[in-house]
Amino acid sequence: MEVLEAMERAGAIPIAVLEDEEEARFFADAMRKAGLPVIEVTFRTAAAAEVIRYLRQVDPQLIIGAGTILTPAQAAQALQAGAQFIVSPGFDSELAAWCRSADVLLIPGVATPSEVMAALRHGLYTLKFFPAEAMGGTKTLEALAPVFPQVRFIPTGGIRLSNLADYLKLPNVIACGGTWLADRRLIRERRADALIHQAQEARALVEQIRTEIIA
Ligand code: 3PG
Repeated sequence: MEVLEAMERAGAIPIAVLEDEEEARFFADAMRKAGLPVIEVTFRTAAAAEVIRYLRQVDPQLIIGAGTILTPAQAAQALQAGAQFIVSPGFDSELAAWCRSADVLLIPGVATPSEVMAALRHGLYTLKFFPAEAMGGTKTLEALAPVFPQVRFIPTGGIRLSNLADYLKLPNVIACGGTWLADRRLIRERRADALIHQAQEARALVEQIRTEIIA
């Protein structure tokens, strides 16, 4: 399945800081059980590339991307490890050019119309809206919608179960990302039930909103 299609289907993308393979396996199993098979593994730990390589090997059904990518060198490392998409917190034209030449999907972070325009110039139409809540949240996305009808957003930053529905109701939102689905304490304490419960709540909300939109 295509990566963007899988993201849209999931509706929620856990953004995980994972320290090692064992932890990664535990977390990925929980997300698969809960119906969230698209995971962004952040490049905020030294183990990120190894974790991505490992998850791609042990469970090919997962869709694993690399997050917090700042440079082409990091993107290359992620791609070599098997990352299926690259996420950056902001827009960088060098990174965009590199990802294009490597033929890997880049979802760059944007927060202003100028940044959206820069991304469009590089042929990128699916963008991370970051940091969503701090940059005006749903109001900003609603204001951007008529000006950029060709753009789809993945809002991230300050999103929790309590405001997830507000974002998912917007036609220019395909999914929301967040670390709330990958709580560090729950992962460290191996609390699978709690992680699965949270993820299932998010999944249920996604389904509910989608049904309401169609009805
Ligand atoms: C990210 O990596 O995109 C951010 O940490 C997500 O923000 P959140 O922690 O508020 O979900």
